[in-house]
Amino acid sequence: MIAPKRVLTDEMVAKIEALAPRYPNRRALTLPALHIVNAELRHVPLEAVVEIAQVLGLAPAEVQDTLTFYQFFHQEKPHGTVRAFVCRSVSCALRGGDHLLEHLCKKNGVEPYGTTPDGSLTIEPAECLGACDFAPCILANDDLLKNMTPEAAEAELKKPRARAT
Ligand code: FES
Repeated sequence: MIAPKRVLTDEMVAKIEALAPRYPNRRALTLPALHIVNAELRHVPLEAVVEIAQVLGLAPAEVQDTLTFYQFFHQEKPHGTVRAFVCRSVSCALRGGDHLLEHLCKKNGVEPYGTTPDGSLTIEPAECLGACDFAPCILANDDLLKNMTPEAAEAELKKPRARAT
């Protein structure tokens, strides 16, 4: 019988274990572990949930509960190599955030939360990014894009970006 392929790499497990001393117990590592796996795989498939649970000594359902509490984690398929969160909270909305989101979705042929067919870009509505002074703004991977116009955002999102951490 062929053993199922592991989803978590040794490096991912090592990163999770390296954080353990900072947390009061292994259950508290659930969210950081999900982030570590998500940063590598751009999603957290069910197989990874089971493996995270094994690493942390929890039931898979406990890890899955945490994952599904947050809209941040995708489970079915990876998000784009660039994940763009377009702020739609009040300051950004007053300065065109809704139009920005609509424009970017239309230009890229996706619905909100959708990923382009080539897997290069996912566009997601977001709540306040904590940068209201620069409304409307977008978080693209780890880069905050400030004072965006539709045209500037379109150009920015075509640029290559470092992976989100
Ligand atoms: S409302 Fe958009 S960053 Fe605060």
